[in-house]
Amino acid sequence: MRYADPSANRDLLGNRTLLFIFICAFALVTLLQQILYGRNYIKRSLQFGWQSGDQLANWTGLFNVTDDPAVQSGSDSSSRSPGEGAGPSDRSGKLQIRPHRKPRPDRAPNGCGQVLSKEKTGEGQAELESVYFEFYEGPFEYNSTRCLELRHEILEVKVLSMVKQSELFDRWKSLQMCRWAMNISEANQFKSTLSRCCNAPSFLFTTQKNTPLGTKLKYEVDTSGIYHINQEIFRMFPKDMPYYRSQFKKCAVVGNGGILKNSRCGREINSADFVFRCNLPPISEKYTMDVGVKTDVVTVNPSIITERFHKLEKWRRPFYRVLQVYENASVLLPAFYNTRNTDVSIRVKYVLDDFESTQAVYYFHPQYLVNVSRYWLSLGVRAKRISTGLILATAALELCEEVHLFGFWAFPMNPSGLYITHHYYDNVKPRPGFHAMPSEIFNFLHLHSRGILRVHTGTCTCC
Ligand SMILES: *[C@@H]1O[C@H](CO)[C@@H](O)[C@H](O)[C@H]1NC(C)=O
Ligand SMILES: *[C@@H]1O[C@H](CO)[C@@H](O)[C@H](O)[C@H]1NC(C)=O
Ligand SMILES: *[C@@H]1O[C@H](CO)[C@@H](O)[C@H](O)[C@H]1NC(C)=O
Ligand SMILES: *[C@@H]1O[C@H](CO)[C@@H](O)[C@H](O)[C@H]1NC(C)=O
Ligand SMILES: *[C@@H]1O[C@H](CO)[C@@H](O)[C@H](O)[C@H]1NC(C)=O
Ligand SMILES: *[C@@H]1O[C@H](CO)[C@@H](O)[C@H](O)[C@H]1NC(C)=O
Repeated sequence: MRYADPSANRDLLGNRTLLFIFICAFALVTLLQQILYGRNYIKRSLQFGWQSGDQLANWTGLFNVTDDPAVQSGSDSSSRSPGEGAGPSDRSGKLQIRPHRKPRPDRAPNGCGQVLSKEKTGEGQAELESVYFEFYEGPFEYNSTRCLELRHEILEVKVLSMVKQSELFDRWKSLQMCRWAMNISEANQFKSTLSRCCNAPSFLFTTQKNTPLGTKLKYEVDTSGIYHINQEIFRMFPKDMPYYRSQFKKCAVVGNGGILKNSRCGREINSADFVFRCNLPPISEKYTMDVGVKTDVVTVNPSIITERFHKLEKWRRPFYRVLQVYENASVLLPAFYNTRNTDVSIRVKYVLDDFESTQAVYYFHPQYLVNVSRYWLSLGVRAKRISTGLILATAALELCEEVHLFGFWAFPMNPSGLYITHHYYDNVKPRPGFHAMPSEIFNFLHLHSRGILRVHTGTCTCC
């Protein structure tokens, strides 16, 4: 018996029906958008949508950012009614946009990534060198009505899915007009929440005090795994946490996002009292202008040690040399994240001791990591794992009076609409679905708007 495909006809009909339904749905959604957001919705998302690089490629010239609506309309697509700004127009910030060549829409950069300097920068570098967008520190006072409004527009976005990313992006861009200042009452309130949930000044690292000899330490993710704290490892722990609450005045947490490239933020980062970096990022001369060199804590992802340094089972000097670049910086590892990480993390301590290095080695306390993840989960950060950058920023909020974030940005373009690389040193993308970067960045933008920390996504002009 010959087999006739019985679905052949039905399929055709099915497809047509589906197409029809699809067209109807599309029309309905478009109509609803028009009604809900007005005509600007479509116009805006075209201008600043993530895939619209071609249109931005022709943006050439110098715009003066003033209150003058005639001038502003050239650079700001927003439909906010003109003339409501409170800033004096003579102190106009200047923003300069130069044309860029081929956009690559398939890249999605983020902050503190997973991948170490592969030093594979060639492609795309020259291309981006000359195209950075200059945003002078905004001319508007933090307390001006205009800035209160702009901050409110970000805060009223309660969850990331509430608006299109391009819309949030637009609001963030407008907020760059405003100076940032800390809101002491907001900051203190947030910090006391963190001290209740997480308590970095006591629990960030495993110490002899919080992890006594004989402790059966639970891993963060391998919850059935237990590590018995024996004499040998106990002696590797510091007696107590080396840092106390609000010890440092100004801290910089440096993510590795491509947003840092051509930012010239190096001097501002170096001027911080304490600098955190993630995953052994390159800080060679080639990058110092943008990222600085000062490093007080640098994290190491054990997967790097496994992949690039043969789990330290062979020659150790190459790894030691890499750490030496950070001079006095303490090395921080998630030794008790899962069972795979432990041996390799402990070996880092042996290596530094063998080479008589004075650099300290610390391990994240797994309970601290659990509590920090839980805290951010309650604010909508759902991921297999929160990023190292988010963990460091959370710790910094407790250890520092003022926290500045550099290199944290989860989108393919910088706020001026130019495509950026994934990291400042390469364009290697992370494992998909591992971190929830857009959601983390969204929370940072909120904290910035509440005056709790400052997110830098433009060029620096300080010092
Ligand atoms: C850019 O401008 C040139 C001429 O100035 C024009 O030929 C080209 O089509 C424009 N490209 C886009 C994407 O608008
Ligand atoms: C910008 O402002 C300066 C003086 O403030 C003026 O000379 C210049 O023509 C302006 N440029 C544009 C593009 O409006
Ligand atoms: C903003 O106003 C508050 C009082 O409302 C004041 O304490 C604060 O210093 C002001 N901030 C700036 C940057 O002027
Ligand atoms: C600071 O935060 C408080 C809420 O904690 C708010 O009432 C106040 O308006 C904020 N100040 C400024 C200048 O935004
Ligand atoms: C983590 O949270 C639990 C439950 O909320 C709490 O009992 C514990 O003290 C917290 N741990 C740290 C290190 O703050
Ligand atoms: C390292 O520490 C020494 C002494 O504590 C200090 O003089 C030196 O400036 C530090 N180097 C860096 C890069 O911080």
